[in-house]
Amino acid sequence: MVCRMKADLASIRSDYQRAGLDEQSAPSDPIRLFERWMQDAIDAKHPEPNAATLATLGEDGDPDARVVLLKGVDDAGFVFYTSYESAKARQLAAHPRATLVFFWLMLERQVRVRGEVTRVPEAESDAYFASRPRESQLGAWTSHQSAVIGGRAELEAKLAEVTTRYDGKDVPRPPTWGGFRIAPTSIELWQGRPARLHDRLRYARGEAGAWSITRLSP
Ligand SMILES: Cc1cc2nc3c(=O)[nH]c(=O)nc-3n(C[C@H](O)[C@H](O)[C@H](O)COP(=O)(O)O)c2cc1C
Repeated sequence: MVCRMKADLASIRSDYQRAGLDEQSAPSDPIRLFERWMQDAIDAKHPEPNAATLATLGEDGDPDARVVLLKGVDDAGFVFYTSYESAKARQLAAHPRATLVFFWLMLERQVRVRGEVTRVPEAESDAYFASRPRESQLGAWTSHQSAVIGGRAELEAKLAEVTTRYDGKDVPRPPTWGGFRIAPTSIELWQGRPARLHDRLRYARGEAGAWSITRLSP
């Protein structure tokens, strides 16, 4: 096979040695640990610390994935916002389960959240939409996310139209836009360690809602 890249990808490697993760000091609730790690990423000024890859099951049965921004986390789960007409939303309607993967390179950490997906209540989506910058609100009305379009001019014409429509008025939330919440059934936290002997703790939620912890081989 002819490789066109000048860089030798096979020779790129880093040794991870910033921190460790052990069962004794890990809290019994993985959401507490996730919140701590997210705060660490924010404090470290990690770029887009709340960006995560969202994996869903495609309508054709193939896996699909894309990046979204986490907009909330609490005991009920992990929330992101999107178009309810997008490919991901159609996929989640057919198969309401998803995985979110966070990667904080500066901290040598990965978190993998798997769970069941529901739409967030309308009032919660309304409150978040109202907090967004006006240009993002207009963008939500402009884009039919994941639809094929003829060119950028189409988008710009639509933006001009919605900008005129809402001139001098509050922009309401489009009914086709809102949040999803992933209620986690398992959360795996990964901390890079030297010599590829990384720490992996997987929390799984049992029938009664209690979390159990297991260590996975790297
Ligand atoms: C850093 C980053 C953040 C993003 N955040 C979101 C988001 O919060 N919600 C969203 O719908 N799309 C977001 N996107 C765009 C998605 O990755 C994707 O292109 C879009 O949602 C359409 O995906 P779909 O066709 O699979 O539904 C983001 C992309 C990047 C690179």
